[in-house]
Amino acid sequence: MFRGRKTETGREKGETKMEEMRGVQVEEVVSNARRLGIVVGEASATEFLFVAEREVPRWEYVSVFSVEETDEGRKPVEVIAQVHTILSASLALPHSLSFESAQRIVEAGLADNRTIAKARVLGYIHNGVVRQPRMAIKPGKEVFAASEEVLRRFYSFSDEEGLFIGNLITRSDVKVSISVNGLRRHLAIIAQTGAGKSYTAGVLMEELLKKGATIVVLDPHADYIFLSQDRNGGKFSDRVSVFRTKESTSRYEWEIGSVKNYEVRFSDLDFDEISMLCGFPKDETRWVNIKEAVRSAIEDLKEERGDFSLEELIELLQKRSLKGDEGASKALKYVETLREFRGIFGNSTTSASEFLKAKHVAVFDLSGLDDKVANFIAARVLREILALKLMQRSGGDGVMKYPVFVFVEEAHRFIPDDEKTLAKGILKRIAAEGRKFGIFLTLITQRPCKIDADALSQCNSQIIMRITNPEDQNAVRRSSERMSESLLNDLPGLNVGEAVVVGEVTRAPVMVRIRQRQTREGGADIDTVRLLREASAEAEAEESARASGEQARKEIEIVRSIVEGF
Ligand SMILES: Nc1ncnc2c1ncn2[C@@H]1O[C@H](COP(=O)(O)OP(=O)(O)OP(=O)(O)O)[C@@H](O)[C@H]1O
Ligand SMILES: [Mg+2]
Repeated sequence: MFRGRKTETGREKGETKMEEMRGVQVEEVVSNARRLGIVVGEASATEFLFVAEREVPRWEYVSVFSVEETDEGRKPVEVIAQVHTILSASLALPHSLSFESAQRIVEAGLADNRTIAKARVLGYIHNGVVRQPRMAIKPGKEVFAASEEVLRRFYSFSDEEGLFIGNLITRSDVKVSISVNGLRRHLAIIAQTGAGKSYTAGVLMEELLKKGATIVVLDPHADYIFLSQDRNGGKFSDRVSVFRTKESTSRYEWEIGSVKNYEVRFSDLDFDEISMLCGFPKDETRWVNIKEAVRSAIEDLKEERGDFSLEELIELLQKRSLKGDEGASKALKYVETLREFRGIFGNSTTSASEFLKAKHVAVFDLSGLDDKVANFIAARVLREILALKLMQRSGGDGVMKYPVFVFVEEAHRFIPDDEKTLAKGILKRIAAEGRKFGIFLTLITQRPCKIDADALSQCNSQIIMRITNPEDQNAVRRSSERMSESLLNDLPGLNVGEAVVVGEVTRAPVMVRIRQRQTREGGADIDTVRLLREASAEAEAEESARASGEQARKEIEIVRSIVEGF
């Protein structure tokens, strides 16, 4: 097929040479190719139009042969592009025609129809790396359907490096993987609600776990508590632990493997943590007396009994307040608010060694917890991870030496744009510096415009799914220079489970249908049908109870009237 394409237009000297130089590999690729059309009109190095010879679906991958100046001189290259717009037009049927004229032209068989496709250039591969062409694509060039083989080279990585996430939307025969190395510079999964963010995050966790990763998940909706199970409730992995508090509300209807309590012994909190929980500002002098009262009460309790509870701290402050200690009296109001966190305080402190293990997922089930409490757990867990990684960097023995992949579901609850939270500081620090220490974030959110813009822009890769809200689209536009306008325009057209992936995890932007989960989903969409059925049954039972009560009442009435009649 390739041999037949002798288009002289636009052919250069270099290209003739290219044909001679072309190795077996390229030859094979091309011989499988299917011609789709010819480049027409103005073309640039980033975009071109082609008139289609046959039906071309939107988002189809195409290739055009060109010549590029590389570090090894002028080389033939296969440029890959993706069709983003399809236009159908007719010279014989301009839009100025009246209906009658148009009808006459159609009836006379004079109506021509041409399909023009617009394609954006994705690049070409040279020595295993995707590069952007510098030369404009030449009009007259033939356009082929990109071969499976070249697409695979574009969109997959070696088994060791790649995380298999799905298949190309338009080419289900082409598997797509993303690079685990790309996760070093953090990832954001962004989409409107119900588009498939948690599902996708679950796929990534499965892949990472298979590779031996240490994963920590902050999970406000209990989306990942069943990760140890396969889709049918069998075993997927033993290496998943769920940490919950006394107040987590998710129901564990099934046996889900290892479930542990996450708790903190109150006396293990240091003054800075207590001060943060009380909301004492760091440097303000007005607060000196209050802070001093708390600090000295803590110190005295530590010295006196070592271990002590929040209630004991409150008691001591009350005693001192009664004795006229003004600082203690004012501090009480703040320290009493710590009762909000009662669900977390326990007899011991969950050690980081329980949740940071090689080839292991630790899911922190934060379901039903108040934002403040969820943030406290997040902040504490993240601070411990960072401390351990810092120790390891300075040569600490026996500390966590492997990278830690941290997934933050509902990230806008932990790192909102416009308010302070307990976890915001540490999350921003990890977003800015974590990669130096081997902490790699995945932020998951349906409200990119409500999340701290700095943290979001530190995510050098994005998996973006359906987004229709313009405000959120703008937030995506601001956070990623890699999202071209035309890709942004495609976002509302994505179906559930379809995603655009851009950034360091992929060689070129890619549209992928996320593969099926191997593990059981957690807080998936509520089963409305089942719940309505249950509601109907409940209502029926109520009505029949009422009816039988009514019947009994009538019978009593009858008996009473008979008795009274005697
Ligand atoms: N790739 C996929 N393949 C099959 N089903 C999917 C896929 N992605 C999502 N779904 C289904 O779509 C529904 C919504 O997915 P999911 O819960 O992941 O959405 P979400 O974006 O996390 O929503 P929310 O913002 O409400 O948390 C689920 O029932 C899930 O099973
Ligand atoms: Mg979700």
